[in-house]
Amino acid sequence: MTRIFTLCNNKGGVTKTTTAVNLGYGLARAGKRVLLVDTDAQSNSTYSLLGVLDQELTLFDVLTQGAKMADILVESASQKNLFVAPSSINLSAADLLMASAPGREHKLARALNQVKDNFDYILIDTPPNLGVLTVNSFIACTDVIIPIALTTYALIGISILEATMQELRENLDVSLPIFGVVANLDDHTRLSADVLSAVREHFEGLVFDSVIPRNIKVEEAHNQIACLFDYAPTSTGAVAYSKLVKEVLERAEGH
Ligand SMILES: Nc1ncnc2c1ncn2[C@@H]1O[C@H](COP(=O)(O)OP(=O)(O)OP(=O)(O)O)[C@@H](O)[C@H]1O
Ligand SMILES: [Mg+2]
Repeated sequence: MTRIFTLCNNKGGVTKTTTAVNLGYGLARAGKRVLLVDTDAQSNSTYSLLGVLDQELTLFDVLTQGAKMADILVESASQKNLFVAPSSINLSAADLLMASAPGREHKLARALNQVKDNFDYILIDTPPNLGVLTVNSFIACTDVIIPIALTTYALIGISILEATMQELRENLDVSLPIFGVVANLDDHTRLSADVLSAVREHFEGLVFDSVIPRNIKVEEAHNQIACLFDYAPTSTGAVAYSKLVKEVLERAEGH
């Protein structure tokens, strides 16, 4: 069965995109067939993987114009087995355009049903809000991954995310299990350590052992449209993300 992970945190800048992209590369390099779905109008993961934002058809066309999911998928030029369902700035109007559409919360799930059998893992990168695209991402997924930055107030806002997930579980009959929590931007300071222990306490056994450090190579790879594991394979960021990929595979496949 295809595992569909929604990477979500309504807070901005907590490494949703970076984690989606590096998990995408890592799982594809482990031989898995991977699709990264970019539901954020900022299109950061689309750009990070493809280096251009000139796709004729994007997720916008699938969600609002009846295009087929299979027709928008683009394969990464540098990484075998890694595909992108690209976003575009048009998606910023999706909340309005989809507001009165029947079955609006299920559009992404229906679209992914057309292609999911071609993939082992689908990663959905979401915008920093809990609008219609994030709700679609929740309904389309099998599991949720929550990236959290180990900076001040990391847990503020989490209650809104958790309440929204609970409301969807109750009203839309989805189970929305939390597959794991990725702690990121560890500065090796007292503050990071304190926030990490608060996050571990809040999420009990769900936080991955691999904590991602703040590391300039992660940002450079992202900005240079490079795969971190090729760009700086011995960097602390690459090593931590490799361990995370292993943990994800272990949790998902039990080996
Ligand atoms: N481990 C890291 N070390 C240093 N910089 C990082 C690391 N991870 C991510 N970054 C940088 O932090 C910034 C925010 O990351 P990212 O864009 O992934 O967050 P996001 O949650 O997707 O943001 P948004 O809410 O805007 O979509 C980016 O500039 C990214 O390059
Ligand atoms: Mg992002």
